Amino acid sequence: MRLTELLLESKLGDYKVTFTENTDFLEKYTKLLNVIFIVDENVWNAHAATSLAILNNSDVIKLKVNEERKTLDTVQELYDEIMSRSPKRNMTMISIGGGITQDITGFVASTLYRGINWIFVPTTLLAQSDSCIGSKTSLNYKKYKNLIGTFFPPTQIYINTAFIATQNILDFYSGLGEIGKLHLMGGENTTQQLIADMDAVLNRNITELLTAIQQSLLIKKAYIESDEFDTGRRNMLNYGHCFGHALESATNFEIPHGQAVVIGMMLANAVARKRKLLQTDIFEFINENILIPILKTDINNTQIEFEKVIVAMGQDKKRTGSFLALIMLTDGYEMVKFNDLTEDEAREALVGFFGK
Ligand SMILES: NC(=O)c1ccc[n+]([C@@H]2O[C@H](COP(=O)([O-])OP(=O)(O)OC[C@H]3O[C@@H](n4cnc5c(N)ncnc54)[C@H](O)[C@@H]3O)[C@@H](O)[C@H]2O)c1
Ligand SMILES: [Zn+2]
Repeated sequence: MRLTELLLESKLGDYKVTFTENTDFLEKYTKLLNVIFIVDENVWNAHAATSLAILNNSDVIKLKVNEERKTLDTVQELYDEIMSRSPKRNMTMISIGGGITQDITGFVASTLYRGINWIFVPTTLLAQSDSCIGSKTSLNYKKYKNLIGTFFPPTQIYINTAFIATQNILDFYSGLGEIGKLHLMGGENTTQQLIADMDAVLNRNITELLTAIQQSLLIKKAYIESDEFDTGRRNMLNYGHCFGHALESATNFEIPHGQAVVIGMMLANAVARKRKLLQTDIFEFINENILIPILKTDINNTQIEFEKVIVAMGQDKKRTGSFLALIMLTDGYEMVKFNDLTEDEAREALVGFFGK
């Protein structure tokens, strides 16, 4: 399988992912009269002299990103920056960066003039394999992760895997978390395919990485096109995120998103095994061949307060009843969502995993 393009159907307007081996596509956008490039500061520092050299410095806004900056304050900073430059309703905004850049600038693009033309160039493994499609923009509010947001897809996405070479190791492994999740959700065949390519993927071999990225996007596409506004089936993409989001906020985002998702999947699988929804041999097979290889976080040196995690799980915006919600992978690689997880079950899974 090798795709050059992937078309996404959206009720908000269809959009396209183009896979490219270079950044020559940027040239035509530099010639637009009304264009602004918002570039992750670290991406700018790593690529300004090479793949981004074509950009006209005066059209570039450099954006400092971290999880604490995924807020309305940063959105307002960008409104100010953009409004100081003679913006127009017909302007084009091109964002270049990872999932945080996407979330902040996508929110800006969706709200400025009630929506401007927006193009996204993802530069991290996570953004290329997962977040770039699905039309969500998200901001954190106080301690609530991704509480605020809109549905607003870019009109065009360009994926150039060369950007990934400069990602630091932990952020790279964060992207592997979402890739692992999507391949597991894809079923036994895609799981086996990732296992076969695992060594090459871990070594950032471009061919296998591109295969894993494209397969991940195809699996995610099937979920989002059938439930774009996340009222049913799309919820399953939150596999690993019920515990994962809670671990992120309980550690003040010390654990990168995709790595929290890996631990979240391990914990969800442990609950599923305990409930006899997942056979022990499949549980162990998945841990040994997918989840342990893509876990880079040093869990022995990460302080986790279990009660904080459980409180955070209770605040999950997807919670529906008085119990906690949990998405689980079950035998046959079928996804299920249960709304009756007890705090004791969650605690038992945490103690079993972190061993305290
Ligand atoms: N909107 C969605 O649908 C969606 C889906 C999944 C995740 N997310 C969000 O994505 C965020 C995580 O995004 P991420 O993992 O892409 O990372 P990121 O945007 O947090 O970037 C991680 C770090 O890598 C740097 N960086 C980015 N690209 C680089 C490159 N090519 N070379 C060197 N450094 C680079 C950044 O400056 C940052 O320091 C989380 O906030 C998560 O909630 C959003
Ligand atoms: Zn995620």
